[in-house]
Amino acid sequence: MNYQKIINEIYETVLPMQAMGRQATYIPALAEVNPEQTGMCVETLDGRRYAVGDSDVRFSIQSISKVFSLAMALSLEGDKVWKRMGREPSGASFNSLVQLELEFGKPRNPFINAGAIVVADILASRLENPEEDFICFVRSISNDTSIGYNDEVALSEYSCGYLNAAIANVLKFHNNLEGDIDRVLRLYYRICSVEMTCCQLAQAFLPFADHRREFCHSGVRLTTSQVKRMNAVMQTCGFYDEAGDFSFLVGLPGKSGVGGGIAAVCPGNYSVAVWSPRLNAKGNSVVGMKMLELLTTMTEESVF
Ligand code: DON
Repeated sequence: MNYQKIINEIYETVLPMQAMGRQATYIPALAEVNPEQTGMCVETLDGRRYAVGDSDVRFSIQSISKVFSLAMALSLEGDKVWKRMGREPSGASFNSLVQLELEFGKPRNPFINAGAIVVADILASRLENPEEDFICFVRSISNDTSIGYNDEVALSEYSCGYLNAAIANVLKFHNNLEGDIDRVLRLYYRICSVEMTCCQLAQAFLPFADHRREFCHSGVRLTTSQVKRMNAVMQTCGFYDEAGDFSFLVGLPGKSGVGGGIAAVCPGNYSVAVWSPRLNAKGNSVVGMKMLELLTTMTEESVF
């Protein structure tokens, strides 16, 4: 498969679409990112890398980090995690409060904010230095020690994270948050603030594409069955109320973030990361989704 030729063609096709959608502004620091940037990187299981555009520019991975924090929580607690959250698509926006209230403080899945705040609570209560352990894990899985948090972004979100604070309070009321609310939210915001490039993200997702191999990175261990299940949750819940459309148009397990990034895997084949800051109404990158749709269409490789 000539991936380089395919992604070059995709890049040329989507560039005129860069103006569509709106970048996230509810986190003030994200409003300052230049939206006219687009990158893509594919990494195959045999170790080849294909990149185009702004694939080496760091951006805020935001909710893509929920995949890494879930991997850590599953490694620490195994199936106990599922007592505190479900694995059903929410069909609601990523920061919805209504559903959490109606369902008595049990988040639908780990990839909406409520679920990820419970995951952060698990890390905060089980680990002595969760911030340090989390970034060590991300560096290890990406094979890159230069990856770090952006504290300006974390603080910027903390300073106006009213909905997440409400979510954490509802969780606490229903005994689904062990730690101190402020402590857990600060950890959650730092986890969201990690900055990576498309190439670093593609590398970090490669172990999820290599689903038949046991997963072990800086002490985080997952069985092949757990990796398979993480991919299943990405497939059904990785795009909030656009998970159905993403499956329909792209057909890969993946996860998006409001920074405009999307990482996805074609199990047994490759991992891919795309980035372009402008989002559609559901909070997913317009150009990013189009690039992935074209990739699975042109290669005829997807899970379906
Ligand atoms: O908590 C938030 O709202 C952000 N830190 C993360 C949201 C996000 O990336 C959801 N994405 N599509």
